[in-house]
Amino acid sequence: MTDNPDIRRLADWDAERLDSLADVHGTPLYVIDLDRVRENCERLKAAFPSEDVRYAVKAHTGRAVLETVREAGLAAECASAGEVMRAFDAGYEGDEVQYTAVNPPAEDLDYVVDAWREDHPDLTVTVGAADTVDRLRERGFDGRLCVRVNPGVGAGHHEKVQTGANAKFGVPYDRVPDLLERARDDFDVVGIHAHAGSGISGDDLENHRELVRRMGELARQVGELEFVDVGGGFGVPYHEDEPPLDLDAVAEATREAIGEIDATLAVEPGRYVVADAGVLLTRVNTVKEAPETTVVGVDAGMTTLLRPAMYDSYHALANLSGSDRVAIPVTVTGPICESADVLCEDRPLPRPERGDLLAIGNAGAYGYEMTSTYNSRPRPAEVALESSGSPESSDARLVRRREQRRDLTKLEDEV
Ligand code: LLP
Repeated sequence: MTDNPDIRRLADWDAERLDSLADVHGTPLYVIDLDRVRENCERLKAAFPSEDVRYAVKAHTGRAVLETVREAGLAAECASAGEVMRAFDAGYEGDEVQYTAVNPPAEDLDYVVDAWREDHPDLTVTVGAADTVDRLRERGFDGRLCVRVNPGVGAGHHEKVQTGANAKFGVPYDRVPDLLERARDDFDVVGIHAHAGSGISGDDLENHRELVRRMGELARQVGELEFVDVGGGFGVPYHEDEPPLDLDAVAEATREAIGEIDATLAVEPGRYVVADAGVLLTRVNTVKEAPETTVVGVDAGMTTLLRPAMYDSYHALANLSGSDRVAIPVTVTGPICESADVLCEDRPLPRPERGDLLAIGNAGAYGYEMTSTYNSRPRPAEVALESSGSPESSDARLVRRREQRRDLTKLEDEV
């Protein structure tokens, strides 16, 4: 049995290796370790041995990641036609693909129904509104259908990622039995689904358990289901001193909360699979001693890693060039013309100097995925690490080239 810790901290990465990757590929640079992705999948499968584990691909849709997760035996939960397409590109077959339609544009339904009709008759469509059922019927879809439930209880690391009690998501709990009953005439009704929110840990786990309990009750009420999917949301520790989730305990509590059901329990983690498998490397452009703080300007900002600006998320930071220098409180900012473009505030960091290389931890989930080209900043490159047999060393390969300034006008040039 190989060593497979619950969390890989930023300090566990090989600093020299990261330094040489930055030299070769430039910065900002995402690094994703596929071996760690595989380890995370293995821990999930070990904690949920008789359950169905589906990867919420929105956390990281890179082809190398999807191929790794597929080989590790996890199915794919997709939020859009684009994600479904990426899953197929990575070798997934319809019977391992679950498309969760959230207010789906017509084009998405067209694509998914075509894929179902032509090549993937076993794909599952999850609907979150009675209206979506009608729109599928209009397109001639009579395949595997799952209904997303709004369980009335949410959880998550920030209010912006709590979905369980948000009216946008899912069919109101009390209306589900009736909708399912009617849908059984025209579709192969296979499951019910709910998702509390993202980044659940600590006291929030209680809310997650309540969601699971409600889903168990509903499953017993409606009968005849293949699966009950209680969503994703397993949190990872972003702070260095935060303990990791006890996945086995969470799995046990989930099984207990769902109770006796005549269906397979399914979970769909995204973050847990990729968060600690990724780091973001960035170089210091500017150091400014302001009266209030030392402002450290780096080449990654809110367009490279949006989470701190959007959710005030904490990400561990290390100065790989000067780890032995005295720490001073710094505010690390990006090159974007917005005051939200801050990666951390008043964080003690070994005194940064121009040209230093900084590493940002837990960047594998919702990192590259949420990049943009705002301020006409090209998106970063991404390198994947993967061992080629010897456990001590791994190969690095570029899996996403750096976007070039010229790429920014491509869509205009091509009309
Ligand atoms: N299933 C459904 C239906 C979801 O909407 C999501 C996440 C997941 C599963 C996976 O949740 P996870 O295991 O990754 O927590 N951008 C935010 C996270 C938004 C998550 C949206 N839905 C962030 O960076 O924190």
